[in-house]
Amino acid sequence: MPPTALADRQHAEAHEPVVYTDSKLIYFSSISEYTRRFVEKLQMDSARIPLYGYEPKLITTAPYVLLIPTYGGDGGKRSILPQIMKFLGYEENRKNLRGVIGAGNTNFGEYYCIAAKRIAAKCDVPVLYTFELMGTQEDVLKVKEGLETFWKPASQKQQER
Ligand SMILES: Cc1cc2nc3c(=O)[nH]c(=O)nc-3n(C[C@H](O)[C@H](O)[C@H](O)COP(=O)(O)O)c2cc1C
Repeated sequence: MPPTALADRQHAEAHEPVVYTDSKLIYFSSISEYTRRFVEKLQMDSARIPLYGYEPKLITTAPYVLLIPTYGGDGGKRSILPQIMKFLGYEENRKNLRGVIGAGNTNFGEYYCIAAKRIAAKCDVPVLYTFELMGTQEDVLKVKEGLETFWKPASQKQQER
């Protein structure tokens, strides 16, 4: 990119509207909104990664778990959507990431939830759970309880053993 174009882009990015969030659950959902429907059933505070470029960028101010679907290309290529790449492009968002939950479809075989698995490996955090489409009632319960345990202070977890 020529230096002037780069400077223009940096200027535009610096002046982009921002939404800050301290939600412990950040998710992406495309227009089919399966993931959004799953997240609604959790009845937990959450924030959605912007779907459209004109929406303000989302910056996290506290540790969070990322819940995302996979949209795989040819042989698992480009399986992480650009909106999710953009979100993780912000240093604060990478720094605050603690774990990943994947939504997907087992019909995709070895590429099932591959986006979540790749992000977890790259950012050195665990894959906490994977589920299909909008999830079952069991998935909802497991994720809800799993996240509650995940965020409990270590001292409290020890006392409960
Ligand atoms: C074009 C397309 C490609 C997909 N690729 C994958 C894939 O590689 N692996 C996977 O596990 N699921 C894949 N899925 C399934 C989606 O991840 C799944 O439907 C998810 O629930 C969509 O969530 P959303 O409606 O919130 O965007 C794909 C779905 C579509 C429509």
